[in-house]
Formats: sequence, structure tokens, C-alpha cells
Amino acid sequence: MDTLGTLLPRLLTVIPGPASRALADRLAAVESRNITFVDDGWPVFWDEARGANVRDADGNVYVDLTAAFGVALLGHGAPEVLDAIRREAPRLVHGMGDVHPPVAKVRFLEALARVLPWDQPRAVLGSSGSEAVEAALKTARLASGRPGVVALEGGYHGLTVGSLAVTARPDFRGPVRDRLYPGVAFLPFPTEAGTPAPGETSVGAALAMLDRWIDDGVPTPSGRVPLGTVLLEPIQARGGVRALPSSFTAGLTERAREHDLIVVADEIYTGLGRCGSVLASPLVGLEPDIVCLGKILGGGMPLSACVAPARIMDAWPASDGEALHTSTFLGHPLACAVGEAVLGQVAADLPDRARALGERLRAGLESGLAGHPDIRVRGVGLLLGVDVVDDGTPRTGAGVRIARALLRRGVLALPAGDRGSVIELSPPVVLTEAQADFAVAAVVEAVQGELA
Ligand SMILES: Cc1ncc(COP(=O)(O)O)c(C=O)c1O
Repeated sequence: MDTLGTLLPRLLTVIPGPASRALADRLAAVESRNITFVDDGWPVFWDEARGANVRDADGNVYVDLTAAFGVALLGHGAPEVLDAIRREAPRLVHGMGDVHPPVAKVRFLEALARVLPWDQPRAVLGSSGSEAVEAALKTARLASGRPGVVALEGGYHGLTVGSLAVTARPDFRGPVRDRLYPGVAFLPFPTEAGTPAPGETSVGAALAMLDRWIDDGVPTPSGRVPLGTVLLEPIQARGGVRALPSSFTAGLTERAREHDLIVVADEIYTGLGRCGSVLASPLVGLEPDIVCLGKILGGGMPLSACVAPARIMDAWPASDGEALHTSTFLGHPLACAVGEAVLGQVAADLPDRARALGERLRAGLESGLAGHPDIRVRGVGLLLGVDVVDDGTPRTGAGVRIARALLRRGVLALPAGDRGSVIELSPPVVLTEAQADFAVAAVVEAVQGELA
């Protein structure tokens, strides 16, 4: 069948084509110049998307291995998503989230409570991942009673002023450093590898640093502040698809229990099925007190959540008429209606489907790239990364060059990792076998091209 969604790439023009180039010129005339990167080979402008296909403004069809930043796990324009929009849109497009709440918000939160592994989960909704992280930082501050935070180098938690305070990347932080909350200390990423790569450290050294901050507080320019929160991704996604080693999470759990630390798992990328289970935290032995969700949660509508058991969330006082944390679009009815449909899929078999397809992709990549000592295939389920290293050191920009080569072949993928050495694959679960095999072959060829 010749239907957008299940097609292999079909390229009609050079990439980017003339329509994309013209749109890039128009965009440059109206958007802040820092937002959309444009050069001779980048970007293509999306016009339509279904299943695992995207069609650009020139009519070129791509196979999408990004799911648009991991969001479209169910596939672009998934029937469940479109049905929910069709049902809710004529009834209520916008509501009054924390004053006279939409019915859809209640239904959505009940569905969320059913899929999460806690008794009495309680949520704070938002529209973006960054907002969920900020809500978690506030909640953990209240619940722990202490302001200091530890996060991980390579972690990505968003770019709003509150979430950027826990995102380690110097390029993002540099221009606005003096706006950011200073009571955050960053641990190098812990690894069990014999020789840690640059930016990584041994599990023992990471735990020793954590012990020092627990004992002495987190250093700030105006003195040390007591540590109350540890915030981290179970598997760093944009940080290069790096899973926390279980020896580290075991050490963290022990310390969190002993010192009443609040552990926040940022599962905005990893959660809700992508990694083959509802949450990725149990896969790496992480035991979070608070979980942040986003991306997949709204099935493409902007929706996020900071969720914790009542014993943690009740650190917030009961509302006395004025919510201390809310926003105009909190509990947006359209987003909640779609979110409820997404959660139905999560509760059914979305994680199993992601695991099965992920195994197929991983096996293909591993066999296609076998014999290359400079390649590491990482990740789980449909969050996979191919890291290109030279003598143990990530090869700067390899993922960027591979993403460009793939685009020219009609495959959408994004680079990851501090040095852009990783090509990240986070495709929709509806990738057909033919699309999956094509994509694997294209990635293998592009990686081999990088190594040649
Ligand atoms: C793990 C993680 N946390 C937080 C965020 C920020 O989410 P948003 O861009 O929706 O604010 C992202 C975005 O990629 C992410 O991957």
C-alpha cells in the first residue's frame, strides 16, 4: 500500500529541496537567529507526518528515527491521538485548570495514577518537560526541607531558568550563568568501565563525591547549603544514551534512605514505554521519590507531569484559594484527553511492543557493526545510541555528521552526547519491519562512512 506511514524514503529533490530552502529564508526574517540552525544541508521543513513517515515541504518522504524528540512513540498522527482530539475539541479546547477544572483533567490524572507503581500518586501538571522538572525541584525542596541539589554531568533537564540550573551543559548555561540557582553540584557520569571516558568517573569516585556533599553541603559562591535533592535521568538520552550503572544506583538508594534525600527521576524521555517498561528507573535500580514525565505523555499535545506519592507531594500545603504552583494551561483539556488515550496504550502493550522492536533494531545494529572496536551500541527498548569512539574517547561531531548523511538518504535521526559523538535512535513503535531493516542498514552504512 502506498500510504504515508509505512513507506521507505522517497526523495524527489536534493536535500534540503527548494521549498525548504525558501522557508528557511522566510524563517530567518522572523525568528530569533539562535533558534533554528540553517546551512546548506539543514534543515528540511516538515509538512505532514503519519506513522513512521514524515513528508517535507518539497514532497520528500523520510523514515523518522527521532519520533520528533521522542514524543511520537505511538507514531505520527496515531489513530488514538486523532480520535481523542476529535472527541474533545468540539467540547472544550481550553479550560480553567486549577479553578473550575476540565473533566478531562480528572480522567487523565486517574489514568496516570493507574499506570504508576505507587499507592496514592499525586501529580502537578504542566505543558513542557522543563515545567515538570521545575515542579519537581520545588516539591523536593519542600519535602526535604533542604535547598542543595546534586545532578549529573551530561544530564539534560530543559532550558528554562529553573531547569537549566540542573542541566550541566556549559554551552547552554554560559550566556545566562548569573541567572541560575547556584546550589547545584554536578557529579561526573559514573561508569563501571575500567577506564572512564572523559567526563565520566568511576562509581566509587562518584559516590565519594556525593558523600562529601552530603556531609559538608553543596558549595555555592556564598557558602555551602545542605543537600536535599538528587535529580537524574535513569538513562541519559540527549547525554548520549547512557544508562546509570546499578552499582551507582544501589549506592545512591542507600544514601538517600540514610540521609532522607529526595531522589527525582527525570523520565521525560525514558518513561511511558519507550524503554520497554512503564518507567526506566527499575531497569537501572533507581528508586525515585518523584518522577517527571513529558514528551510521550501528551501524544504530541504539550503535556507534562511531576508525580510523587502523597507522602511526598503533601509537603505542599492544601490550597487556600490561591494555588502556589499553577499556570494558564495546566490541565489543558485537549492535552489531557489525548494523554488519557496514550496512557491506555501504555497500560495495554506499548512497553512490550517497544521492547520487541528495540531488540530487532539493536540486533541489526550490532551485527552490522560487529568487528568495529570503535563503536558501542547502547540503550534499551526504543532508546538506542551508537557511540563512535577513538581509543576510548568519544569522536567529537561523529553523530552530527552521521545525522547529516542519514538525512541525505531519507532517514531522520539526531546526534546526542556532550561531544555529539552519538547517533540517537528513538523511533516510533509503528516502524514496519521493512522500515526498520532499511533504517538499520542506512545507519550502519552512515557509521561505516564516518569510520572510513
Ligand atoms: C530528559 C529530559 N528532561 C527534560 C527535558 C525538557 O523538556 P522540554 O523540552 O519539553 O521542556 C527534555 C527534553 O528533551 C529531556 O530529554
